Amino acid sequence: MTLFYQKSVILNVVKDLFLIKKMAKIRPECNRMGLSLLKTAKSVILSETKELLCKKPAILASGNWTVEIIGKYSRLAGLTFFFSGINGEQSRTNGVKPMARRKITVVGAGNVGATTAFLAAYQQLGDIVLIDIVKGLAEGKALDMAQASSLCGYDCKITGTTDWSATADSDIVIITSGLPRKPGMSRDDLLAKNTDIVKSVTGQVVRYSLESFIIVVCNPLDAMTNAAAMISGFANNKVMGMAGVLDAARFAYFVSEKLGINPADVDCLLLGGHGDEMLPLPRFTTVGGKALTELLDEKTIEEIVQRTKMGGIEVVNLMGTSAFYAPAAGAVKMAKAIINDEKAMLPCCVYCDKEYDVGGYFVGVPAVLGAGGVEKVVELDLNETEKKELAVSVGHVKELVDKVREMI
Ligand code: LAC
Repeated sequence: MTLFYQKSVILNVVKDLFLIKKMAKIRPECNRMGLSLLKTAKSVILSETKELLCKKPAILASGNWTVEIIGKYSRLAGLTFFFSGINGEQSRTNGVKPMARRKITVVGAGNVGATTAFLAAYQQLGDIVLIDIVKGLAEGKALDMAQASSLCGYDCKITGTTDWSATADSDIVIITSGLPRKPGMSRDDLLAKNTDIVKSVTGQVVRYSLESFIIVVCNPLDAMTNAAAMISGFANNKVMGMAGVLDAARFAYFVSEKLGINPADVDCLLLGGHGDEMLPLPRFTTVGGKALTELLDEKTIEEIVQRTKMGGIEVVNLMGTSAFYAPAAGAVKMAKAIINDEKAMLPCCVYCDKEYDVGGYFVGVPAVLGAGGVEKVVELDLNETEKKELAVSVGHVKELVDKVREMI
């Protein structure tokens, strides 16, 4: 097999090989390997020295070590070395970065799940696995999305499956499975059924993706996030629920309509559970640095706050089932913040102990999301009324979580 590499790429190899050489101080076997690779790479360059392209079979082996230079990646950004190392141990040297894509599993191929998978693919967040218990559903939707690859400009792998083993080693698992609301139902009415679903799904996440981050999307959101955390036993920074970003987006949209400005220019904050007692915070919501309370009168603000609280049911009443475009966009926004280490401040359902005096529950607060998952909870200086309202909302979440505890 002959592979073609740009000379600059080969020079990067040499640089990396020097790093391997440095490692020899710690592991003598690296020295042998490093020197032989260095020699080969140098000869590649020397033999084609006047050419921009270097040709050489680039697969080298020595003892237990195998190093493959993968052409696909070299075209993109340099070279990736895969070390199938001594005694099966994986080794990554400084400056030699594997470039595998992230793997995102979306559980549930219904409206929210399929839209989440599509938006994640569209933003090239990683390879996507869409899983559902209904045979053919995830497979069909994934194939449909994959067939749109050349039209949409994504090239990630999109797999649909009913088999949990296909989700193995996911970086992020987004749980959307669960019953949606019908007109006349509250989110809490879904508690028993969705606790069962989250219990079984989380068990599979633990089995196949022990290192993953979990983003819960199904309702009642705060209770289900607490359930996933309790069942998985994952560190608190690795489990979170999507709702604040959705509620804040609704709030931002309604504000933007009133002010006649771009929704992205409305910087919204919101606290509490994803239910009727959520707290959109006009004092902390700004447009161009000005608080909403300076921009709109009290009555208009109150209307917007109420409409935000009822944002979900307004959609349910119109179309007979739960919203999915905005919830899916919210989940993808959170996944993107983690994958790209954005340190983005987003309102989401995260673990709070002393923060806001919550006392060890997952509730909606502003948090910083990055490569470490939930990296920080942001505490706002609330006034007495806001504190009281938050306590009511958190109290409601606690009641639901107590019920969940009896069920799991
Ligand atoms: C909503 C659902 C997803 O608010 O909770 O639309």
